[in-house]
Amino acid sequence: MKLTTLAMAGALALASTGTFTVTASAEGMDQASIVEAALAGGDAAAGEKVFKKCKACHMIGEGAKNRTGPALNNIVGSVIASVEKFKYSKGMVARHEAGDVWTVENLDAWLTKPKNFVAKTKMSFAGLRKAEDRANVIAYLATFADK
Ligand code: HEC
Repeated sequence: MKLTTLAMAGALALASTGTFTVTASAEGMDQASIVEAALAGGDAAAGEKVFKKCKACHMIGEGAKNRTGPALNNIVGSVIASVEKFKYSKGMVARHEAGDVWTVENLDAWLTKPKNFVAKTKMSFAGLRKAEDRANVIAYLATFADK
């Protein structure tokens, strides 16, 4: 059962084109399954290189603190905008209140073009054009799932 879910989610991650709708097909998946799907869907080592583009604003790993953007530990599979003491934009707070989760699909949509996912987001980042870069950086984020 779990394997099927994993394979499906992995395939979804690979098939990402940036035209995803927000209603995740992964809805109902628990956090551990989302993390597994993220790890299966990309190459975390390659994602670490992609993450260089994020470092201007984000920290991740032990002792990571909020900077311009929130610390990104344990972000995959968590409810959107849950990092303590970070002042999110209204649009992100609305996502939080709706209970929306950072599934692989939502992360993919977000990283394709943040402004299309949350209008007036404070994340002034154009986005990652290549689906492969997105899948890889999502896999990298997933390696910090239990920190
Ligand atoms: C110019 C600064 C900047 C860059 C570069 C940037 N971010 Fe962000 N990021 C932010 C800010 C600010 C927010 C909060 C957005 C809001 O409140 O609207 C955010 C939010 C996020 C969130 C949601 C966090 C949560 O708590 O729900 C994720 C995930 C994320 N960024 C990932 C990335 C990744 C991955 C990259 C690199 C590919 C990246 N960001 C590049 C500034 C940045």
